[in-house]
Amino acid sequence: MSPSEPLPSVAPALVTSGKPRLLTFDLPPFATISLKSPNSLLLDLMAINSLLGTELPIIQAPMAGVQGSALAIAVSDAGGLGSLPCAMLGIDAIRRDFESILSRTSKPFNVNFFCHNPPTPNLEKERAWQSLFSSYYTEFEIDLETIPTGVARLPFNREMADLVCEFRPKVVSFHFGLPSPELLAMVKGCGAKVVSSATTVEEAIWLQDHGVDAVIAQGLEAGGHRGMFLTTDINSQLGTFALLPQVVAAVRVPVIAAGGIATARGVKAALDLGASAVQIGTAFMLCPEATTSTVHRAALKSDEARLTALTNVFTGRPARGIVNRMVRELGPMCSMAPEFPKATAASFQLRQKSEGLGKGDFSPLWAGQNTSGCKEVSAAQLTQELASLI
Ligand SMILES: Cc1cc2nc3c(=O)[nH]c(=O)nc-3n(C[C@H](O)[C@H](O)[C@H](O)COP(=O)(O)O)c2cc1C
Repeated sequence: MSPSEPLPSVAPALVTSGKPRLLTFDLPPFATISLKSPNSLLLDLMAINSLLGTELPIIQAPMAGVQGSALAIAVSDAGGLGSLPCAMLGIDAIRRDFESILSRTSKPFNVNFFCHNPPTPNLEKERAWQSLFSSYYTEFEIDLETIPTGVARLPFNREMADLVCEFRPKVVSFHFGLPSPELLAMVKGCGAKVVSSATTVEEAIWLQDHGVDAVIAQGLEAGGHRGMFLTTDINSQLGTFALLPQVVAAVRVPVIAAGGIATARGVKAALDLGASAVQIGTAFMLCPEATTSTVHRAALKSDEARLTALTNVFTGRPARGIVNRMVRELGPMCSMAPEFPKATAASFQLRQKSEGLGKGDFSPLWAGQNTSGCKEVSAAQLTQELASLI
């Protein structure tokens, strides 16, 4: 059936049910079953097209620090939704990347921002944190006086919202909740679809109640920072295939599955569990369009990648990365770490010096639990491979 043909009579019921992706038969509660039908699959693809503007229900996860516009452009051109992470970029760099994307593709893309609360200064805690590193500073001949104090990650602000309104990306995604109602209204007012990560059912419902167009269900397997914002308890965090169906059952908006999805079968399984789309990060990190550092690429390709952990020692917030010397010796979770992102500065120079020696001992080697899908192939080829069973 082509998209222009009228849908069979069952379709309106599916659409008005509020959950177009599932066909639920009218059976007693104890016998209720949900099945994907060809019609609901077609509706899924139509719904995702109107939400993301893409042909494929595949979002390349924004990954601050390991990619810029090139990866986003390649994935968008291949029919998925490429993402530009802005959390570690200054306003001029964001503008340059917007211009670069718009000059090289007319396809929809996503821009991504963090919206954490700025940290409360706590000099005492920062000093105590730095003192934990003193033997490393001696080892690498680093003068304590030269440790930077700046903050590398800024939350979404008015200047960023102005840029969004100037360049009008199809999708804007947030991590760590949502920005203020005023900034959110600006983003929505300029026509962007808004999505954000939920790591629990409660967060998903909160995001829906605060006006998102879709929720990303970020499972515990996911690489990088946990998007958690209503809880700090890492025991509340669920694996993707435990979290996803519960979020699908709890909200009316479409749900995007993220965390540990790295193959076409994984994509299909997530769609079968009710996801309207998937968001995939780690698998794209070896693509030539990514800017993943040499030490990070080497770690991803090594056996070390089999052992990841949630750690707060790099930034102050839990994030999943490959276990290295710093995680082993100070973490993985350390109660002395200052508030996000203040913890970052203490290891900045150690990271530089260690990487100069070809080692990733002090680098945040962000990666999800499933690195089996990382391939040194073009992002376009990987996108097509991931979509091959849809
Ligand atoms: C290296 C890396 C950096 C990340 N940076 C961001 C980011 O800047 N913004 C964001 O919303 N999510 C970020 N994430 C999390 C992803 O959005 C997504 O939840 C995750 O990649 C999905 O799990 P997977 O890596 O197993 O595919 C990052 C993930 C990785 C691996």
